[in-house]
Amino acid sequence: MYVIDETNGKVCIFHFTVYGGVVHMEEADTMKPTFIDFFAGSGLVTEALSRYFVPLWANDICAKKAEVYQANHGSGHFHLKSITDVHGASVPLADVSWASFPCQDLSLAGNMGGIEGHRSGLVWQWLRVLDEQPVRSPILVAENVAGLVSAKSGMYYRRLHMALVERGYQVGAIMLDACNWVPHSRPRIFVIAAPKQMDVSALTSSQPCWCHTKAIIAAANGLQSWVWWKLPAPAVRTQSLRDLIDWDVPCNEKARADKLLRLIPANHARKAGSYLPGEPRVFPAYRRTRNGRQVLELRFDEIAGCLRTPEGGSSRQFLVIRSANGDSGVRLLTARETARLMGAPDSYKLPGSYNDAYKAMGDAVAVPVAGFLGRHLLLPLAKLAGREKISSRRVA
Ligand SMILES: C[S@@+](CC[C@H](N)C(=O)[O-])C[C@H]1O[C@@H](n2cnc3c(N)ncnc32)[C@H](O)[C@@H]1O
Repeated sequence: MYVIDETNGKVCIFHFTVYGGVVHMEEADTMKPTFIDFFAGSGLVTEALSRYFVPLWANDICAKKAEVYQANHGSGHFHLKSITDVHGASVPLADVSWASFPCQDLSLAGNMGGIEGHRSGLVWQWLRVLDEQPVRSPILVAENVAGLVSAKSGMYYRRLHMALVERGYQVGAIMLDACNWVPHSRPRIFVIAAPKQMDVSALTSSQPCWCHTKAIIAAANGLQSWVWWKLPAPAVRTQSLRDLIDWDVPCNEKARADKLLRLIPANHARKAGSYLPGEPRVFPAYRRTRNGRQVLELRFDEIAGCLRTPEGGSSRQFLVIRSANGDSGVRLLTARETARLMGAPDSYKLPGSYNDAYKAMGDAVAVPVAGFLGRHLLLPLAKLAGREKISSRRVA
């Protein structure tokens, strides 16, 4: 059946189901607000937001990632093309416009070309497309690494912030670390913008909260049209790395494993050996060069280090696995394990080679993080904008 929603005049379709002797009414998709996904990569943002929003359009330049995106979300709305070739007139109007723009120039592992660098500088192309659209999306999200707010004492952030303010938005940044949801350390900055004239007081606070880091607080100091977005604290994570890995995947053959195990620094080997036998253990490990020597450094918190693409200049992540009888083995993370670390369901298709999957996941946004943001901030903001019939261009 359908009804007219008094708040925004839209026609709404409801599904009725009966279970447990009770009639349940659920809004069908037509009630969902919409979003577009720039730099969509392997589609994890779309995966997360599709629960609350209808995806209308997405693009990425990488054919391998496009394959992953399309295998999971269909090819209907995906455009395999550079953002430099996207014209605003051809992009549909959506409630939310999301851009996970390339991080290499803002990441410590990269060359720090900054927000004008030829890769991270593609964020300006997103703004160009927004400017070309007949009506800009009311809610904007730009996602990147911590360097966006911390590098150059916040100068890169302030440039982006003011560019959004000039377009009629009020803006704030938050930091969400995937380790709150999955055993994977992945701090990321989310810059969220809403039209200046929109009353967002229910979703903001007068001061920083748990998702504002020192670097964000410093970058925000004195900034015009800054807002402190307010989010509920996430529930305590219950899953650890040992719950996520496939224990029956074979480790490297012994000669290769021994070679790697010999690279573990003495203090790390002692600590790993100090755990009581009888219980299997897993230690994420990275090969690094320290004082001119190759070492294999272990983590002891059962949280994987941040997955990165090999292009980012970092090595792949190993797992040092100690079985119940005390034997140690080494292997790389499997493609499926990398997807799980990003919070993707096991049904998420990963076409292509191991390297393709590793690269696709290493670049992505963790699903539960984008989902949390979607549910607790973007959806309420989109509903507010719908209610107030706001799009930024109409009123800026
Ligand atoms: C941080 S990743 C985004 C990941 C994506 N949101 C996800 O969850 O999988 C940045 C993406 O920008 C894409 N990219 C780089 N240059 C581009 C360009 N000129 N036009 C469009 N996409 C580009 C990369 O292929 C990469 O997938």
